[in-house]
Amino acid sequence: MKGQEKIVMITAYDALFSSLFDPYVDVILVGDSLNMSFAGKSDTLSATMDQMIYHTQAVCSKAQKSFVLFDMPFGTYTDKKTALKNATRAYQETGADAVKLEGGKEKAKIVRYLSDNAIAVFGHIGLKPQSVRSEGGYSIKGKSEAEKQEIIENAIALEQAGAVALIIEGVKPDVAQAVTERVTIPTIGIGAGVDCDGQVLVWSDMFGFFDEFMPKFVKSYMDGGSQIRSAVQSYASEVKSATFPDQNHTY
Ligand code: KIV
Repeated sequence: MKGQEKIVMITAYDALFSSLFDPYVDVILVGDSLNMSFAGKSDTLSATMDQMIYHTQAVCSKAQKSFVLFDMPFGTYTDKKTALKNATRAYQETGADAVKLEGGKEKAKIVRYLSDNAIAVFGHIGLKPQSVRSEGGYSIKGKSEAEKQEIIENAIALEQAGAVALIIEGVKPDVAQAVTERVTIPTIGIGAGVDCDGQVLVWSDMFGFFDEFMPKFVKSYMDGGSQIRSAVQSYASEVKSATFPDQNHTY
């Protein structure tokens, strides 16, 4: 699809939302962001293989046409052997089409090893959420020329190692544009401007369900949180006042 048609990626973590998104998107990412949006943790670092496998199985059960991407959790690809063991598990226990791991040239040998063992790998460069604790927070990458060059080098190293696509997160748009022009594999942006080959968003952010913090790059496509609050309030008040169930909802 690179250069021909934009790639639409969205996260999903269960069968219900997988079935709702599947007709309209190209790729469903079972992201470790589920640890924050659904498991209530403050970052993604405690997500586990068991957790990711459970959610990816659910997503795959309803993803009829979409490509499903399995996010490798923190600490599961620290070296070649560990990465292959865990990625093999992802392939054997779910229907995922590819795995994703965070990192640049320092991960190239691992990406090569996985590719040589018939695992399709997406790289994830720029802002890497799994580095939040070591870096002391989330910050936009590629602001200086040196950082921009480093991101481009990371992208090229991953492509040469066999990565099939790249997620580019939290970078200045000119960085994502330069990477997209320099590699032949597709780039999918999140907070990376419009020039990537595709875009990804976390569904609970874009539908207004995760309203504690809204990064600038997230566009709100619905006000899900308010709608759910209002619906549950109506339900609660009707139960309290014994107006639900009425005749129409009683056998
Ligand atoms: O875990 C996730 O949802 C991700 C996206 C932010 C790309 O990695």
